[in-house]
Amino acid sequence: MAVLGWCALLSFLSLGVAQLNNSATYTNPVFNTGADPWVIRHEGYYYMTYTTATNITILRSSVLTDWSNAMVKLAFQPPEGRNFSTDLWAPELHLIDDNWYIIFTADPNFDQPPPETEMFCDYNCPAVNHRMYVLQGSTSDPWTSNYTMKGGLDTYDQFAIDGTYFRHETGLYHIYSCWYRQYDGWPANLCITKMSDPWTVTSNFTERQIISVPSNPWERTPYGRMVNDRLASNEAPQQLTNPETGQQFLIYSAARSDNRNYCLGQLELLGEDPMNPSDWKKNNDGCVFYQNPMEKAYGVGHASFTTSPDGSENWIVYHGMLNPYSGWSARDIRAQRFTWNGDGSPKFPRPGYGPYQVPSGQNSSMMMFV
Ligand SMILES: *[C@@H]1O[C@H](CO)[C@@H](O)[C@H](O)[C@H]1NC(C)=O
Ligand SMILES: *[C@@H]1O[C@H](CO)[C@@H](O)[C@H](O)[C@H]1NC(C)=O
Ligand SMILES: *[C@@H]1O[C@H](CO)[C@@H](O)[C@H](O)[C@H]1NC(C)=O
Ligand SMILES: *[C@@H]1O[C@H](CO)[C@@H](O)[C@H](O)[C@H]1NC(C)=O
Ligand SMILES: *[C@@H]1O[C@H](CO)[C@@H](O)[C@H](O)[C@H]1NC(C)=O
Ligand SMILES: *[C@@H]1O[C@H](CO)[C@@H](O)[C@H](O)[C@H]1NC(C)=O
Repeated sequence: MAVLGWCALLSFLSLGVAQLNNSATYTNPVFNTGADPWVIRHEGYYYMTYTTATNITILRSSVLTDWSNAMVKLAFQPPEGRNFSTDLWAPELHLIDDNWYIIFTADPNFDQPPPETEMFCDYNCPAVNHRMYVLQGSTSDPWTSNYTMKGGLDTYDQFAIDGTYFRHETGLYHIYSCWYRQYDGWPANLCITKMSDPWTVTSNFTERQIISVPSNPWERTPYGRMVNDRLASNEAPQQLTNPETGQQFLIYSAARSDNRNYCLGQLELLGEDPMNPSDWKKNNDGCVFYQNPMEKAYGVGHASFTTSPDGSENWIVYHGMLNPYSGWSARDIRAQRFTWNGDGSPKFPRPGYGPYQVPSGQNSSMMMFV
């Protein structure tokens, strides 16, 4: 009895120390199912959206590093028979002017184009009817809000997936994965258009600008394919602002999401006008975050960015695969801390499983008892 008592006291004491010096750890994945994670920290909670394909689900957790006990909210169940009824992908939850918006990709009837459509495509184009949509929350609280459809985003009746908002002193922009023409199929590029509010695009088709194309070998699948553009893609763009310098980055995913080579690429806005392609500078040297075979971390991409509970650390939330052979179903959701390089660009870690130290301000007691 006495020995057991001492053991209990000792583990209690070491837990207390762990809380004081924040030595608690976590391992990846932080959520076992899902892909295309998007996380935002708001008033003491983390909120996550991800691809369920059939609906839009929001998770709420007090910790970034374990979502297995998160609260679950069904934010949107699409009606049948509409252009946004199936394949709901990559939802993101944004707070803009005190309203919450969910921007997401969807298509009608699993987007199986009939032969009369398919024949126009250069190779194949199963995503020909994918478009972007926006829901608006009813209150300033993301959890209790009811979300209603505001409408589709104008992408000129062309392929559009993985759209996000880009905020800039000159206004609000929609950046998304796009084709050059309606029936291209490939390559998937990054396009930008100007918005007057979170559901209204004001650029016409001529004004739409392409700010990145998958021209580097590491943006193409299989690696370096140049005979055609099949499986060459830039997608999942995310705004990332360096809080010290104010530098504006656009981190996107490159190559193909169903295999080990999927990775993150980087653009930086060096000029004043996001609508001017030459104001963007692409890092052509290679992926800035990519597979780590030593740790069996493959196909890492589709990232979003948040901060530790105390706001002092930057964190990347992304999906990856332990098994690189079985495609999309192998993806799970991971999180790691990142820092900044001397030139102000993000310094991403090598992806892996940990154990890693929990985010600064995250109580170890919460991890162990809640
Ligand atoms: C934190 O406390 C643990 C448990 O006592 C110890 O092993 C670890 O070295 C400490 N870490 C730091 C950074 O002080
Ligand atoms: C949302 O979709 C997922 C995937 O189909 C499903 O597992 C889940 O039960 C759905 N949620 C609700 C509340 O219907
Ligand atoms: C549904 O999608 C088709 C193909 O993109 C488009 O032509 C049509 O206008 C859309 N319908 C509505 C109601 O938006
Ligand atoms: C959301 O809708 C439900 C059902 O109509 C309603 O009971 C609830 O009060 C609404 N919540 C908010 C925050 O408007
Ligand atoms: C698109 O907008 C530009 C600039 O406002 C204008 O000059 C052009 O005529 C417009 N094009 C179309 C097709 O409406
Ligand atoms: C961690 O615990 C302390 C002390 O109980 C509390 O003040 C703080 O709010 C907690 N932090 C988080 C992120 O819950």
